[in-house]
Amino acid sequence: MTNAAPIDFSAPPIAQQTVGGPVRIPYEIYAESRQTSYRVARTIADLIRQRAVEGRSCVLGLATGSTPVDVYAQLVRMHREEGLSFANVITFNLDEYFPMQADCLQSYHRFMHEHLFSHIDIPREQIHIPDGTIAPEQVADYCQQYEQRIAQAGGIDLQLLGIGRTGHIGFNEPGSGTESKTRLITLDGMTRIDAASDFFGVENVPRRAITMGVGTILQARRIIILAFGEGKAKIVARTIEGEMSPQVPATFLQNHPQTTFLLDQAAAAALTEVQTPWVLGEVRWDKTMVRRAVIWLSQLVGRPVLMLKDADYNEHHLQDLLAEYGSAYEINLQVFRQLQNTITGWPAGKPNTPGVTFPKRVVVFSPHPDDDVISMGGTLTRLADQGHEVHIAYQTSGNIAVFDDDAWRFAKFAADFCDIFGVPSDAVHQVTQRISEFLKQKGAGQTDIPELQQLKGLIRRGEAAFGAKVCGVPDERLHFQDLPFYETGVVRKKPISDEDVNLTVNLLREVKPHQIYAAGDLSDPHGTHRTCLEILFRACRVCQSDDWWSQCEVWLYRGAWQEWPAHEIEMAVPLSPQEVDRKREAIFKHESQKDRALFPGSDAREFWQRAEARNAATASMYDRLGLAQYQAIEGFVKWKGE
Ligand code: F6R
Repeated sequence: MTNAAPIDFSAPPIAQQTVGGPVRIPYEIYAESRQTSYRVARTIADLIRQRAVEGRSCVLGLATGSTPVDVYAQLVRMHREEGLSFANVITFNLDEYFPMQADCLQSYHRFMHEHLFSHIDIPREQIHIPDGTIAPEQVADYCQQYEQRIAQAGGIDLQLLGIGRTGHIGFNEPGSGTESKTRLITLDGMTRIDAASDFFGVENVPRRAITMGVGTILQARRIIILAFGEGKAKIVARTIEGEMSPQVPATFLQNHPQTTFLLDQAAAAALTEVQTPWVLGEVRWDKTMVRRAVIWLSQLVGRPVLMLKDADYNEHHLQDLLAEYGSAYEINLQVFRQLQNTITGWPAGKPNTPGVTFPKRVVVFSPHPDDDVISMGGTLTRLADQGHEVHIAYQTSGNIAVFDDDAWRFAKFAADFCDIFGVPSDAVHQVTQRISEFLKQKGAGQTDIPELQQLKGLIRRGEAAFGAKVCGVPDERLHFQDLPFYETGVVRKKPISDEDVNLTVNLLREVKPHQIYAAGDLSDPHGTHRTCLEILFRACRVCQSDDWWSQCEVWLYRGAWQEWPAHEIEMAVPLSPQEVDRKREAIFKHESQKDRALFPGSDAREFWQRAEARNAATASMYDRLGLAQYQAIEGFVKWKGE
């Protein structure tokens, strides 16, 4: 069985722009983030080799965070497989939390060694990372020395950057000026929220950090800034197309002559070229583009699709489209019909319809134990109520998202239960004791002992079963996959293994589903959704030669972190007020996930509130476009395979 994804790493960008029009920083968009990472790693490798040939050192400025992880993995692979040597490389990392011990789980020292330095031949004395253990009164001198060391090394040849949702580069938060140098700074609230999961709670995230300044960064001879995922789309567009301002420190890169922004498609989503390409010039009008333009126009002028006039098209950069169709009436009607056809109360088809298998076997893949109900609880209920054989595959245990106190309550309950009912309980008491002793001395962010991890997973299993029951899916159709990639006990996960894929293939071959639902919600902060989807896609590719596959369709849902854009929705399942209530009740069964509102990407609302708001927003958008008015709508997009 082969699990290798057929991805062409060396594929060129699908779009690129130099400075001009709204574009103030050149950018390249790649179909997949892995292609972007590969391109960056290649560029770094070429520079290192070129310098080695010239007998010179190569000075790299390096970043941490989730974005560059795959760049480092590629560099390690190039070292192992292609003999790329780092002997001539000198590195300077952007930043480190303060205070921070180097061996701490969240330390950027540890990050860099785990992801890169321990796997390559760079001489240790050529590595520089700001030291989070410096005494506060010595920090200013230390920072000055850091600047001097960069200068002594000859300056940075190539600086790698990520971007925070505040627009920070390094940890230069809003307010940082172009002249700023390496210094101690206070972290922005949003940045601390984004780091909360790494620290098991926002209260554990340090308030300060040492960072290279914007000025330090701008002195690099070349800069590559990377951004992946929908969560970055807004700040990316602001940085590339917005006014330069200390409120968005990344905009200062507009002043740097050798900066390129490298993006995946999701992070590029809010750029003018992607959002409203017709305002820039000619576009190729395929069905999706027409739908996108008409929805945009309808929202812009505030009138339903069927009431758009020729003048609306003419006045808003859509003359070409109008010319192609002849009249607004023709375009309006076509798009209206397309939108209307997306609405269905029978997501797996109606009974007694010729050519439609009924009932169907359905597998809903849920990355965490609550994504099924949060994102498609209404559709799940409909599928079960309409008589389909609905299975739910919980891909990961979700154990790291359970609070210690909750886990302890359950451990104690188990021991007390045994005592009250006279159940032989020595083994139970031993486990409870071990958990209790561990919790008493557990430091912030420390990895749980295996018993505690298992207990936390068990709590989430129970909640998932209750949530599924509310939606009408019985216990025997639940599959707890506990995929190995996730089971590290910490936020940082293992790479996808054959076992992850094989477990999924086996499940698919056992059920032989007619419909698969999977989370296409790729902005979750830890990348778990992304990884789960990749595992499912790889499993689907393995099954594509099976007989049952020809009858199978894959639908992607969203909801926990963001919603599908209107023009992309291919199936819109309306929910009645009663169904919305039932969905809420199912989400409420996930008690351990209450009060997690301050987690990354969060807007300080609970998951059920966010899900309801998104489903209501989709419904109201359909209403404003002139379609039927519903309480809520869950949207889906069909996977076309590759
Ligand atoms: C990391 C750093 C930060 C990150 C940024 C994005 O050294 O300085 O600017 O690049 O916060 O983080 P991720 O990649 O985790 O989204």
